Amino acid sequence: MNLEQGQTLYERLGGAETIRRLVEAFYPRVQRNPLLGPLFPENIDPVLEKQYMFLSQFFGGPSLYSDAHGHPMMRARHLPFPVTPERAEAWLACMGEALTEVGIEEPLRSFVLQRLSGPAMHFVNTPSSQE
Ligand code: HEM
Repeated sequence: MNLEQGQTLYERLGGAETIRRLVEAFYPRVQRNPLLGPLFPENIDPVLEKQYMFLSQFFGGPSLYSDAHGHPMMRARHLPFPVTPERAEAWLACMGEALTEVGIEEPLRSFVLQRLSGPAMHFVNTPSSQE
């Protein structure tokens, strides 16, 4: 998939409005997911807001997250939580569904998921649980 010259992924996705709808579609799925839900607080609003800020800048939009919270250090911020490979896959699956819900079509949808899969795998800090 090609972005037009000089165009950011943020712009291609439709900017602030789409990122807002995306995080609002994403977190209910995260909360319902048996692997992910238990890691998150009951009041998801502050997490949703931080993710809105982070994804805005991650996709090339305004640096909302860094302006408010400083250096992202996202792997370090996930260290308190046991992120297994299965949880990374579940996170990406929820994001895939959220992208579909907000109307992001292929090939843009897969392009976004691919951009996020690097960080998701990088945040893994706990081996698969031995069942
Ligand atoms: C790989 C699987 C992942 C799991 C299991 C996971 C889980 C979590 C959890 C439990 C929190 C803390 C919620 C709280 O504040 O209590 C969190 C925060 C956050 N996550 Fe993830 N996450 C994952 C992947 C990602 C990815 C791929 C991104 C973005 C590329 C991301 C971005 C964020 C952001 C921006 C926050 C808020 C950080 C802050 O407190 O400032 N996460 N995540």
